[in-house]
Amino acid sequence: MARIKYIAGNWKMNKTTAEAVALAKEIVEKAKGLKCKIAICPVFTVLSEVNKVVRGTNVLLGAQNMSDKESGAFTGEISPDMLKDVGVSVVILGHSERRSYYGETDSFINGKVKLALEKGLDVILCVGETLAEREAGKAESVVTSQVVNGLKDISEGMLSHIVIAYEPVWAIGTGKTATAADADAIHKVIREKLAEIYSADAAEKMIIQYGGSMKPENAAGLLAMPNIDGGLIGGAALKSDSFAAILKCAE
Ligand code: 13P
Repeated sequence: MARIKYIAGNWKMNKTTAEAVALAKEIVEKAKGLKCKIAICPVFTVLSEVNKVVRGTNVLLGAQNMSDKESGAFTGEISPDMLKDVGVSVVILGHSERRSYYGETDSFINGKVKLALEKGLDVILCVGETLAEREAGKAESVVTSQVVNGLKDISEGMLSHIVIAYEPVWAIGTGKTATAADADAIHKVIREKLAEIYSADAAEKMIIQYGGSMKPENAAGLLAMPNIDGGLIGGAALKSDSFAAILKCAE
């Protein structure tokens, strides 16, 4: 079964409103007619304006995080309903920067995954090992435990709303990319774990993105691997030329 390729841009903490709108317009233009699935994930403050640009196009609007609570006295937080209100359909959860700088744990992330699904948002669930964990031979065990714990109590029926992004922490923003073979090996391990906890069918259908210094120069090689179904792009998503070049590799 051929899985659709899915490329998402994680803009991280970049772009003012004017900059974000301009970039979104360029991406919409360059994405016209492409068959792969495409999302852009800007900062919260520009979502509403970027939504006006992408609404009705083949570019989905995503957010980079959300609260684990529905509403109430949670200063500084953004709820899933608020994201939906400004046109967001997908949310990145468990990014390694949230895990390492803001102390997000697997169980906290799992709570957010469940709430997002309940509220009708799709999820990109990020997993990935640090350099120290890789060097200690723990990459597979770290990643599979993040997958299992992140998906705890989530039924197989909901998996069509979830994408897993494998982002080795040592490859994020460093210019170091996992080799296509190394990345594919971890993707395969993730798929095998999904087959074990759900079913072979569910594992086969799951879209697993790679993230970590994916760029036009290496995208084709990564995306050609049997278990790599897309990319979660950081730096190269901040310019329409490089993002569009990656989109072309996913066609
Ligand atoms: P870079 O593409 O900048 O390495 O970032 C990857 C990432 O963290 C996407 O979520």
